[in-house]
Amino acid sequence: MSHAHGPASPVSSRSGNALKGRIRVPGDKSISHRSMIFGLLSIGETRVEGLLEGDDVLRTAEACRALGATITREALGRWRIKGVGIGGLVEPKGILDFGNAGTGSRLMMGVAGSHPITTRFDGDASLRKRPMRRILDPLVQMGVTVVSEAEGGRVPLTLRGPKETIPITYETPAASAQIKSAILLAGLNSPGRTTVIEREATRDHTERMLRHFGATVEVALHGADGRAITLQGQPELRGTDIVVPTDPSSAAFPLVAALITPGSDIVLEGVMMNPLRTGLITTLLEMGASIERLNERDEGGETVADLRVRHSKLAGVTVPHGRAPAMIDEYPILAVAASFAEGTTRMQGLHELRVKESDRLAAVAAGLAEAGVEHEIQGDDLIVHGSRTVRGGGNPVATHLDHRIAMSFLVMGLATQEPVTVDDGAMIMTSFPTFIPLMRELGATIQD
Ligand code: S3P
Repeated sequence: MSHAHGPASPVSSRSGNALKGRIRVPGDKSISHRSMIFGLLSIGETRVEGLLEGDDVLRTAEACRALGATITREALGRWRIKGVGIGGLVEPKGILDFGNAGTGSRLMMGVAGSHPITTRFDGDASLRKRPMRRILDPLVQMGVTVVSEAEGGRVPLTLRGPKETIPITYETPAASAQIKSAILLAGLNSPGRTTVIEREATRDHTERMLRHFGATVEVALHGADGRAITLQGQPELRGTDIVVPTDPSSAAFPLVAALITPGSDIVLEGVMMNPLRTGLITTLLEMGASIERLNERDEGGETVADLRVRHSKLAGVTVPHGRAPAMIDEYPILAVAASFAEGTTRMQGLHELRVKESDRLAAVAAGLAEAGVEHEIQGDDLIVHGSRTVRGGGNPVATHLDHRIAMSFLVMGLATQEPVTVDDGAMIMTSFPTFIPLMRELGATIQD
């Protein structure tokens, strides 16, 4: 099942052709994970179109099977899930191995941890470094027992749930849709109302999908930028149809590639435009990017648009901390765009980047250094001093089991004077398995 292991496989990119053509990137990772999970928790059948078949999502599918769902793949991206309903989960026989997937593991801690079964969670070397206390703390308040955990609240860990969870009101300590979602999913098996307060609004796919499957969710504004989300527990979720829109976090790579590669003119079809995911586009437009939103329409309950992107002269900007939740996964590729911009780009308040698939602040800085890009880290801010010509070359960029570091620096190499090599392209399979073929289709020179 997994493609994301085995010996490191270096990949290189070099400048050459202008990028031309139309492509459609795969389905959104966040919605794909949640499609499996809601399918498991529903009565009846859920039919999914456009599922992302990346390693992360396949791990979540395996976990849902182990918890009792019957899951079949009918064609590329077309899956059926027969659920067991809230309260109906079965105890998995083995360890649930989530590989590289923070989202899958954390959301599933809320799902399985809220049931009276014992569940063991593990993952790869990257996941084993990531903080899970942020999930375990609220779950313990809800009556979940942490039977065992690795040092510092990490996987491998074992949870044992109560018969029903205790309804709580919880303010999340970080702007994190994963924390919010784990609590709401645990609140499904509660007899009362569970409220999550977030000081800054994060991606709202869980709330939207809860409603789509039949739960009652109230959302109130909280403070200037926050929200209070309240779920009525023990709803009967009903299997339904889902069309997964394409992933803006994957579209970000060909998008920036076209902006920095001279002569480029591409169209990215049907990109999800959920406002809690479009911070990168807002920023790039401020930098002077030519990005046209064409043919806006509704797909699967989300607004999507075709994006026409042309090579552009970019200028440095300041990206405020408040925008981080709407572009949290896009800072590595923004740093690449900023490398080719005239002047200085300051990205503020990036502390959450230190706990992603890698320490992304450190990994981006190291990659920029290899390519000869002037930059600094000041506290939690990343500052990039751009230039229309970027050298590239240097030693292979260390990707630290991080797909977005690998893809970002391969995009950089399409416009540098010397080729760029990343030490391992295997992790690209976790979120964007067709990245290399689609980029080649646009004319990119990438060698693996
Ligand atoms: C995700 C939330 C984000 C994001 C991740 C996917 C989700 O993590 O980085 O790739 O699907 O909820 P945080 O919520 O921890 O910031």
